[in-house]
Amino acid sequence: MIGYIAFPGGGTDLHWTTAGDAMATIRPRAARNTHLPVRAAGPVPRPGAPLGSEAMKRLLIVHHTPSPALQAMFEAVREGARTDEVSGVEVTARPALTASPVDVLEADGYLLGTPVNLGYLSGALKHFFDQVYYPCLEATARRPFGGYLHGNNDATGALRALESITTGLKWQAVRPPVVVTGEPSRADLEACWELGALVAAELGDV
Ligand SMILES: Cc1cc2nc3c(=O)[nH]c(=O)nc-3n(C[C@H](O)[C@H](O)[C@H](O)COP(=O)(O)O)c2cc1C
Repeated sequence: MIGYIAFPGGGTDLHWTTAGDAMATIRPRAARNTHLPVRAAGPVPRPGAPLGSEAMKRLLIVHHTPSPALQAMFEAVREGARTDEVSGVEVTARPALTASPVDVLEADGYLLGTPVNLGYLSGALKHFFDQVYYPCLEATARRPFGGYLHGNNDATGALRALESITTGLKWQAVRPPVVVTGEPSRADLEACWELGALVAAELGDV
């Protein structure tokens, strides 16, 4: 499935190859009773996983959260990722400046959050990718991810960078990134919640 993002002001469209062909509509907690994708089989055991944890998948949130707007988006994403509509997923969060290649290798899917700074990803998320890119390049290919960005006016450069880096890693976007400018509206936060829930649904049982 290909997702398209139209930028305000007639910017370039980006194309996101998304992993979520099976994704049905998922709505925030306030509008439940919609349907997450149903998987025929449960999670595949992770090689080397300790006994008793075979079924658990790990969803890692890597975020740079320097303001209340981004904190609200982070919390909405995390709440969606932890929805009780999806089982078998353990959610962890790491500030981008502390996340390591081991964190990434041990996770099965990713949520990435950042402000737009100087027309690009924040230095913190860029630093994260600089640290993990080659150590994780082969082992994490085709893992699902979702992104959320916050800017004051124009996220074009940051979106392009996120697409470029995650394409290089061969990560699969479950949907195009959520982009918010200004104070996040209720709809914006619902979109964040959905993003978290959709990535969780890619990993767990619905
Ligand atoms: C150094 C700096 C550069 C920024 N560059 C951009 C930019 O290029 N595009 C944009 O939309 N917002 C930009 N912003 C705004 C940030 O994205 C915004 O401050 C951040 O998302 C937090 O939002 P808030 O300040 O409304 O809470 C920049 C902010 C700073 C501090």
